Amino acid sequence: MQSYTVRPAKGIRGEITVPGDKSISHRSIMLGSIARGETTVRGFLRGEDNIATLNAFRAMGVVIDDDGETLRIAGKGLRGLAEPTDVLDCGNSGTSMRLLTGLLAPQRFYSVLSGDQYLRRRPMRRVVEPLSRMGACIHGREGGEKAPLAIVGRDLKGISYTSSVASAQVKSALMLAGLYAEGETRVTEPHLSRDHSERMFRHFGADIENGPAGVVVRGGRELEGRDIIVPGDISSAAFFMVAALIVPGSELLIRGVGVNPTRTGIIDILTAMGGSLELLDQREVSGEPVADILVRSSRLKGIEIAGEVVPRAIDEFPVICVAAAVAEGRTVVREARELRVKETDRIAAMATNLRAVGVTVTETEDGMDIEGAEQIAAGTVESFGDHRIAMSMLIAGLTAVGDITVTDTECIGTSFPTFFPLLEKVAAR
Ligand code: S3P
Repeated sequence: MQSYTVRPAKGIRGEITVPGDKSISHRSIMLGSIARGETTVRGFLRGEDNIATLNAFRAMGVVIDDDGETLRIAGKGLRGLAEPTDVLDCGNSGTSMRLLTGLLAPQRFYSVLSGDQYLRRRPMRRVVEPLSRMGACIHGREGGEKAPLAIVGRDLKGISYTSSVASAQVKSALMLAGLYAEGETRVTEPHLSRDHSERMFRHFGADIENGPAGVVVRGGRELEGRDIIVPGDISSAAFFMVAALIVPGSELLIRGVGVNPTRTGIIDILTAMGGSLELLDQREVSGEPVADILVRSSRLKGIEIAGEVVPRAIDEFPVICVAAAVAEGRTVVREARELRVKETDRIAAMATNLRAVGVTVTETEDGMDIEGAEQIAAGTVESFGDHRIAMSMLIAGLTAVGDITVTDTECIGTSFPTFFPLLEKVAAR
């Protein structure tokens, strides 16, 4: 098992570019594979989660060439995928498994999805249940709640579905099924979750409408291959934003970050905490807003976080907890129950880890209270097999009184393979 020790830094300085957005990278492979003609993808994230999606489509007969810079996907059209001869292994990736469930349900073949020990513990009924209402035949452990999932492809009918959770994975699974379904598939959610699928469906020419009343996809229309440039992942940039805010003497420019408003909750939260974050050179790339982000060390204060900002920052809560740990006063997180069903239970994992380095944390069912500490203590903590827990605690180490060691750090490769070299590049000692 790998572990990594971070020493306190004297500043976070310079310029970095973070790897491509994970959500957009998954979707580019999926839509490129079922479109007609060639799709090229630049800036694709070569993390383990996205490689799992890429391998799944190769296993269904799609030719995907990778010269190290550009992916070239020879799209097969809506009905061109072939039955895979083995289980499709989604590894640690919830996005691969939930979106593929929606895409495979209407195929005219049999397929099985599985993943690692963490993914096999995560809830799948949230996609299995609405897909079943569309006519899908999907079996899984615990009555369809857990993977492995076995899918017997069937013709589907569009439904109107009101989701009880703001989940882009649920929405996207139904949208992908909706591409094949008879009639209209409509999805409504309590708050808007990330809308990369909506944007990319439109980019590929799908029959789609979206507005305050949710998203509607009409089935049967072929997609056309496109060229895609993937922006930098704001969820990866978030670790370096917090690092530069909490380590005194920092000034960091993060170039080419995706700033889709359904993902910028982290910027809103850190700004409300008193952080200095400037968006420079705002532009649009492949239908997605992009900017450079300039971050300077700031004295942070505790705030209350709940409501519509929660899904817009859902993957950033572990690192927001680190910012809260060194802020002045209490930070209150509520309506964030979804954190309990991520790669690990992120409320419990961050509470355990922050307590281990001297921070006072109270867990609630749907969030936590974090008392800002003068300084974080040195210590050893674990990743719980979760990439974002590992990286968040390593960022905490940059401003602790002594070294912080994080055990079981291999998981960082799922989303951010260049995390360590970037950290070493910008941390002044
Ligand atoms: C994702 C959606 C989110 C997020 C995940 C990626 C996506 O999950 O946490 O990392 O690409 O659609 P939920 O849909 O479960 O909120």
